[in-house]
Amino acid sequence: MALQKEETLAMRKRLIGQSCKLFYSEDPLKIVRARGQYLFDENGKRYLDCISNVHHVGHCHPDITKAAAAQMDLLNTNSRFLHDNRVMYADRLSATLPEKLCVFYFVNSGSEANDLALRLAQQYTQHEDVIVLDHAYHGHLMSLIDISPYKFRKLAGQKEWVHVAPLPDTYRGIYRDTHPDPGQAYADTVKDLIEDVHNKGRKISAFFAESLPSVGGQIIFPQGYSTKVAEYVRSAGGVYVADEVQTGFGRVGSHFWAFELQGEGFCPDIVTMGKPMGNGHPLACVATTAEIAGAFTANGVEYFNTFGGNPVSCAIGLEVLNVIEKEDLRGNATRVGAHLKGLLTKLQSQHQIIGDVRGVGLFVGIELVTDREQKTPATKTAAWVVKRLKEEDLICVSTDGPWESVLKFKPPMCFSMEDAELVVRCIHRILSDLETNGLKLEKEDI
Ligand SMILES: Cc1ncc(COP(=O)(O)O)c(C=O)c1O
Repeated sequence: MALQKEETLAMRKRLIGQSCKLFYSEDPLKIVRARGQYLFDENGKRYLDCISNVHHVGHCHPDITKAAAAQMDLLNTNSRFLHDNRVMYADRLSATLPEKLCVFYFVNSGSEANDLALRLAQQYTQHEDVIVLDHAYHGHLMSLIDISPYKFRKLAGQKEWVHVAPLPDTYRGIYRDTHPDPGQAYADTVKDLIEDVHNKGRKISAFFAESLPSVGGQIIFPQGYSTKVAEYVRSAGGVYVADEVQTGFGRVGSHFWAFELQGEGFCPDIVTMGKPMGNGHPLACVATTAEIAGAFTANGVEYFNTFGGNPVSCAIGLEVLNVIEKEDLRGNATRVGAHLKGLLTKLQSQHQIIGDVRGVGLFVGIELVTDREQKTPATKTAAWVVKRLKEEDLICVSTDGPWESVLKFKPPMCFSMEDAELVVRCIHRILSDLETNGLKLEKEDI
C-alpha cells in the first residue's frame, strides 16, 4: 500500500540526507506517475512539466519501456563480454557527431562522464590546469566540484590548477549585445587567462564548458566564441571539452549538439553527454578523438566501468535515438521553442520586469529584473512566479542563474504549441496581478 504524503515526507526527513533538496520545499509534490510532458500526483492531479530535460522524449515513453523490458528479459551482462547493443549504439552516436569524435566510453552519469573527460584531457596533454566558466556546474564528484565555481565558492574554494573565465553572457556580462564582437572579446578573456597561467609556470590541459551554460542562467554563447577559444587553448597544448550533459540530443532543435550552434568550423576534442541520453535511465558517455583515446590507452591501465554501456542501457539509448527521429522531436523543439520565445518576447513588451528572453529550441530562459537599466535580479519575484504557477495553474517551472532570477524552460521534447501558449498566458496573468495589485514581495522586487 502506498504511503500517505505526510508519511513519505516524514520518512524522507528521517532517512534521507538533508542536503538532498526537494522542489517546492514548503509544499513538495509527490509524483506517482507520468506520461509525455505530464506529471500526476497521488490524487491524480495533472501537472505540466516544463523542467524535466532528462525525460527527453517524454515521461515513460512506451517504446523506451518496451525496449528496456525486452532487453532486461533477455540479458544484462558485464561490459567485458561482446555485445551488439554497445557497438551499434556507439555507431549511431558517431553518426550524430563530427567524424573526428569517433571513440566512446560509456558511463552512468554526467558526473562520471566529466570526471573521465578530465582524466582523458590530463593524460593526453600531460598538463594539469583547467579553465572553466564562471558559475559553471559540471557534477557532484570531488574532481568536478573543483571545476564548478557554482559549488566550490560555497565550499573549499578555488584550487591553484583551476582558472575561472568570465561567463560570455551578452545580457549582463562584461561585454554585451551592444559590443561589436562579443564572441572575440570574451574569447580574448580566455587568451589573457592562458597567459596568466603560463606566467605562473603552469600549463593548460583543458577548457571545460557547457555548450550553453545552464546553471549560469540559460546563456547562449556569442558567435565565434568557441572557435576562437579552441584555437587559443589548443595553441597552449590544451583541449576543448564540451559538456553537453544538459544540451545534447537535439534540445536546441536545429542541431543535434548545442556546440554545433557555433558553426561548422568548430569541433570540440571531447564531448560529454548524459541526462537525456537514457530518458531517465542512468546512461552517459564520453566521445573523443582517436589520438586522445590512444594516449589514455597508452598508460596501460584498464578503464573498467561495471554498469557503463550494459546491454539494457544501450538498448534504451538506441530507442531514445529512434524516437527522436520517428517523432521528429528536433523539428518539434525548433517549432515550439520558436513559438514560446516569440510569445515571451511579446510579453516582455508588456511587463517591465522581464529583462531578457533568450534561448534556442526548447532551452529557453526569461530573466526577471527589478529595473531594466541596472538589471537588478528579481529573485523573489521569480520564486513567487514559480510558486503560483504550481499552485494555481499546475505548471512546474523552476529558476536558474547566479541569482535564481531566470525562469527556465527545458521541458520534455514533446512539449506542444498549446503547452507553450498556456504557460505564457499564466505568466502574463501572474505578472499583471503583481503590477495591478502591488502584491507583497520584498521591496527591492517591486
Ligand atoms: C551541465 C552538467 N554537467 C554535469 C552534470 C552532472 O550530471 P549527473 O547529475 O548525471 O552526475 C550536470 C547535472 O546537473 C549538469 O547540469
